[in-house]
Amino acid sequence: MGIEKRFGPVHANRDIHLRIDKGTIHGIIGENGAGKSTLMSILYGFYQADAGEIRLSGHATTIADSQAAIAAGIGMVHQHFMLVDPFTVLENVMLGAEGGALLAAGTAKARDDLKRIEDDYDLRVDPDAIVGELAVGLQQRVEILKALFRGAEILILDEPTGVLTPAEADHLFRILKVLRDQGKTIILITHKLREIMAATDAVSVMRQGAIVGTVKTGETSVEALAEMMVGRRVLLQVDKADAQPGGTALAVKDLTVIDERGVKVVDSVSFTVRRGEIVGIAGVAGNGQSELLEVLAGIRQATSGTVDLEDECINGTSAAALRDRKLAHVPEDRHRMGLIVPFEEYENAILGYQDDPSYGKGWMLDRNRIRDHAADQMRQYDIRPPNPRLKTALFSGGNQQKIVLAREIERDPVVLLVGQPTRGVDIGAIEFIHKRLIELRDAGKAILLVSVELDEIRSLSDRVLVMFAGRVVGETRPEATEQELGMMMAGIERVDA
Ligand SMILES: Nc1ncnc2c1ncn2[C@@H]1O[C@H](COP(=O)(O)OP(=O)(O)OP(=O)(O)O)[C@@H](O)[C@H]1O
Ligand SMILES: [Mg+2]
Repeated sequence: MGIEKRFGPVHANRDIHLRIDKGTIHGIIGENGAGKSTLMSILYGFYQADAGEIRLSGHATTIADSQAAIAAGIGMVHQHFMLVDPFTVLENVMLGAEGGALLAAGTAKARDDLKRIEDDYDLRVDPDAIVGELAVGLQQRVEILKALFRGAEILILDEPTGVLTPAEADHLFRILKVLRDQGKTIILITHKLREIMAATDAVSVMRQGAIVGTVKTGETSVEALAEMMVGRRVLLQVDKADAQPGGTALAVKDLTVIDERGVKVVDSVSFTVRRGEIVGIAGVAGNGQSELLEVLAGIRQATSGTVDLEDECINGTSAAALRDRKLAHVPEDRHRMGLIVPFEEYENAILGYQDDPSYGKGWMLDRNRIRDHAADQMRQYDIRPPNPRLKTALFSGGNQQKIVLAREIERDPVVLLVGQPTRGVDIGAIEFIHKRLIELRDAGKAILLVSVELDEIRSLSDRVLVMFAGRVVGETRPEATEQELGMMMAGIERVDA
């Protein structure tokens, strides 16, 4: 009721009135920076509202910190999991819970409790498995179990499917429905409107800090939600002419990568990307796409094979030297590789390009000039708030992604490697980014796109390669049906002429 939150000049939550019915799955959508995560952080006691009231089952409740939230029955499934990798599932679930001393008696009781929760909600994970060795989907299940173990009645999930494969996401939604049917209340934030349509009972739309509407899911559509979110009609399909490919810009031959554990993660992969075309790499996450991208970007060493950039071998060339040779890279994981989040935005806007002479030299960097340049980019990419002096960590998730994209795309690259370009980005911004990638293609850039979003691969690519278990198992055209692609992604080999 009347929740308010300001961060300096940014009015992140304005007079929020939101009512969520018990025993429902309630979706929250909105543009990047609309204030969704802020609102959830207030509910979870991570931030204090400047004004307003939270009522649980009709009672005004103060939530001073996350301990209080847990005591009030509110659980949060964090996007960057808060699990301790070397510990077992059971240990993680017990960690920090009341009476959670790792004593034999406590452990036996916790094991029983966990087993009961698993049975009640049909949520199975081996309690003795080491968390760090589990697939992401299972780690997320452990986060959910952990919240339930602490007695959560309300479960908050902020963009839970960003890191999941489609099958894992389906499974998550099945779990959420079971929880709802058992009386739990679920709050689900996602940018994927199809997920909203498939999984929620009602949905609230946020824009610029305010709730602009709440509707029953059964009475709305993807198009209507998109329009409510952005305030205008959104093109959900990409408009593009046929590619006019030119000469080969990137040629990969028999590339093999054996990783630290001795596993062959990339297995004799060969392909080319020509100027003026977008080659998409489809595949379920974890089938070698990430490692392939890292080798091409100069971050990882290939074990064998060659990579040519414009007919010159670039094996072993450093990432910095590759940038000088006009190979740009949008990494899949912006936190691990794309940004230094404690830095101010303008510093990240030129990260990796700080030696560009137009910015001055060494200690003589022309900061005003860089800030002007950053401000320009922020306008063009609608990065909010448009303040180059703001610490990068304080931008919303989707806006951080746009900072990386703007930096890499606007450098006039010859070859552009893009990994998961629209992860966490709202649909209005996706439309813009997709258009921009097509423009770059039409301007003769060679683009290699890695994405786990099949829709994205199909709507942007001129040719599609499918990776499975480290190998390219086939090439197909973007018009291939979802079933065809799905079969290839599951490792069933076929080659399309
Ligand atoms: N600690 C903070 N200090 C300053 N500004 C902040 C802070 N936390 C959030 N903001 C700002 O508040 C606004 C709302 O951010 P929030 O993270 O809630 O957006 P969001 O709706 O979750 O967006 P996204 O879809 O990109 O995740 C943004 O403009 C953000 O930059
Ligand atoms: Mg957010």
